Amino acid sequence: MAEKEVVETSEAEIAVHWQEEDYVYPSPEFIAQAWMTDKSIYDQFSLENFPNCYKKYADLLDWDEYWHTILDTGDAPCWKWFVGGKLNASYNCIDRHLAKNKNKTAIHFVPEPFEDKYEHITYQELYVRVNEFAALLRDFAGLKAGDRVTLHMPMVPELPITMLACARLGVIHSQVFGGFSGTACADRIVDSQSRILITMDSYYRSGSLLDHKQNADVALKNAEKNGQKVDKVLVWQRYPGKASSPTEMVSGRDYFVNEVLKDYYGKRVDPVSMPAEAPLFLMYTSGTTGKPKGCQHSIGGYLSYVTATSKYVQDIHPEDVYWCMADIGWITGHSYIVYGPLSLGASTVVYEGVPTFPDAGRPWKIAQDLDVNIFHTAPTAIRALRKIGPDEPAKYTYNFKHMTTVGEPIEPEVWKWYHKVVGKGQAIIVDTWWQTETGGFLCSTLPAITPMKPGSAGPGLPGIHPIIYDEEGKEVKKGSSKAGNICIQNPWPGAFQTIWGDRQRFVDTYYARYCKDPNSKRWQDWPYLTGDAAVEAPDGYYRILGRIDDVINVSGHRLGTKEIESAALTVNEVAEAAVVPVAHEIKGIEPDLYISLKPGFDASAELAQKISNTICDEIGKIAKPRTVWIVTDMPKTRSGKIMRRVLGAISNKKDVGDVTTLANPEIVTQIQEMVRN
Ligand code: PRX
Repeated sequence: MAEKEVVETSEAEIAVHWQEEDYVYPSPEFIAQAWMTDKSIYDQFSLENFPNCYKKYADLLDWDEYWHTILDTGDAPCWKWFVGGKLNASYNCIDRHLAKNKNKTAIHFVPEPFEDKYEHITYQELYVRVNEFAALLRDFAGLKAGDRVTLHMPMVPELPITMLACARLGVIHSQVFGGFSGTACADRIVDSQSRILITMDSYYRSGSLLDHKQNADVALKNAEKNGQKVDKVLVWQRYPGKASSPTEMVSGRDYFVNEVLKDYYGKRVDPVSMPAEAPLFLMYTSGTTGKPKGCQHSIGGYLSYVTATSKYVQDIHPEDVYWCMADIGWITGHSYIVYGPLSLGASTVVYEGVPTFPDAGRPWKIAQDLDVNIFHTAPTAIRALRKIGPDEPAKYTYNFKHMTTVGEPIEPEVWKWYHKVVGKGQAIIVDTWWQTETGGFLCSTLPAITPMKPGSAGPGLPGIHPIIYDEEGKEVKKGSSKAGNICIQNPWPGAFQTIWGDRQRFVDTYYARYCKDPNSKRWQDWPYLTGDAAVEAPDGYYRILGRIDDVINVSGHRLGTKEIESAALTVNEVAEAAVVPVAHEIKGIEPDLYISLKPGFDASAELAQKISNTICDEIGKIAKPRTVWIVTDMPKTRSGKIMRRVLGAISNKKDVGDVTTLANPEIVTQIQEMVRN
C-alpha cells in the first residue's frame, strides 16, 4: 500500500484560530502628529512603482557617493540594492547627528540591579567611545573591512558601541544572543570564520551576576576543535577595573577591553566608505536542519529599510523616548534598538535584565523614570506581565503614545489588555510581523492611516506585497480567509542577501518552492517563502498562524526542533529524539521532547535530567524542553519515519487522528497514557 505523505507537526497546525475582531481607531491627537498620514503612500509603493518607490527610503540616509542603480536583479535571487552607492552605517547612526544633537541622549542604559544608576550616553559620548573602540579593533585586533567578528554580549551599552565600531571599519559583526551557550557560540564562530571574539565578563539576570566569561572558554575550545582558531578574546568588564567573573583570563589570548583601551583614548577613526551592498552583519537563526543559518544583511538596503520603518511604523520623533524591550542578540534588537532608532537620531533605551525583576512593575517604573512614550515588546512578555502583575501599570505615571508587539501571534484578549491597561486606552498598537531574514517589518498597520485590529498584523507595509499560496503553488484567493503559505512577491531593501557561505541553501530554503523559472533574472519569478502560514481577511489584513516548518518560537525566541533533537542525540544513551511544539499560556510555544533509548539502557528521572541539561549546555536554557518523555518506541510509519504529528497531537491533548496505518499503532495509546498521567 502506498504510504500517505507524512506531515510533520508545526506551529501553524496547533494554532488557535480566533475570530476577526472589530477595528480599533487611533486618537485624533496621534494622527495629528504622525510622520505618515498620506494615504496615497500605498499607491506610491504599488507594484507598478516598484522598485523606484524605495528611493524615498534611501534618501533618509547620508551617502558618500549616491547610487546609480536602485535594484540589480542580475544575480537572482541575490538582490542588490542601491548599487554604486557608498556609505557608512556608523556615520549615519552617529556622526551625522552631532552638528545639531551632540548633547542629546543616544542610549539610556538601565542596569538590572535596582541600586545601580541609569547611564545616559549622549551622541557625543557615543561618538567618542565608538571611535576609540574602532581604533582598538583596527590597531590592536587587526580587523579590517570584510572581516567577521563574533560578539557574545549581554544587554549593555558596550554592545551597540561594539557593533557601531565594527560598522565604522566595515567589519561584519555577528552577535550571538547572550543566553546561548558557549557551544552554540562556537558553531557561529566556526561558520563565520571569526578570529576575534568580543564578550563581557558577567551580567545580571534575575538578580544574579552571571559568569559569562566561562562561555568564551567553552566557545574557543569547541571552535578550535572544529577548525577555527580564535586569536584574541576581548573582554569588556561589567564594572570596569573590577573582577566580576571567577573565570581566569588566559594570558596572551584574553584582554580586558578597558585596560587596552587606555592606549586609544582620544583616537578618531574615519568611517570607512563602504559599498551599499557590502554586508553589515550576520545574524544566525534557526531553520529546518540542526545547523543555524547566518543571515547576511547589507549596509545600504538594510539601514535604509530599518530607518524608514522606525520613522513611519514606530513613528519615532526627535523628542520621543523609545524603548524596545527585546534583546540586541536577536534581529529585533539590531533593527529596532540599535540601527533604526540611532540612524534617526532618537533616544533608545537598553535594559539589562528581565521584565519581572524584582517584580512585574519594573517595566512601568523604567517607563516612568525615563518618560518613555514609545514601547516595544513581545506577546510572551505581555502575557507574563498580565498574569503576574495585572494591576502594576496603573501604579506608575507614564504615557505611551505608541506600542509595538512582535515575534508571535498575539491573542485578541492579550492585545486588549495591552491596549487598555498598559496603553491606558490611549496608545496605538502596531503588530509587526517579520523575521530575521527580512531585516525589518513586513506587515503592520500604518499607525495614523490603517486602523488596528486585535490579533491581526494588518496589511503589507507600503512596498511589501504578500501573496498566499497553497501546497500546489496555486494562489489562495485574496481576502478569502483561507490558510496557506504566505510569501512576498517582490524584493525589498531590508531583505537578507544570502546565507553566509551557503547560497544554495538560501535559494533552496526561501525561493525554490514557488519559483516560476530558476533561470529567470526577473524578480517577478522569485516569490520569497517566509515559512509561516497565514490567512488574509477580506479587508487585506493578515493573521499569522505560525511556522509551517521545523522552527518553533519559544517565548519569542526562534529555535529549530532539529537543533534540539541533535543536542539530545549527543547523549550516549539516546537512540532517537523528536521535538514537537506544545501550546503554552505564557510562552506561546514550548518544546516537548520524546526520546527512545539504545538497547540495554533503561529510562530514569536522572537520565531525563541529563538529557535536559545537555540541551541547555549545547544550545542554552531557552531550549530546555517542557518534559523529556522517554518512550519504549516512537510512533512510526512503515518506512520507519517518526510521526511527529502524532506526538504533537498527544502533547497538545488533541485527537491523534487515524493511526491504524502506522507500523506500531499500539505505541500511541501507551504514550497517550504516559503523557496524561
Ligand atoms: O513565525 C513568525 C513569528 O516569528 C518568526 C520570525 O522569528 P525571528 O526570525 O526570530 O524574528 C522575530 C522578530 C521579527 C516569524 O516567521 N512572528 C514574528 N512576528 C510576528 C510573528 N508571528 C505573528 N505575529 C507577529 N507579529
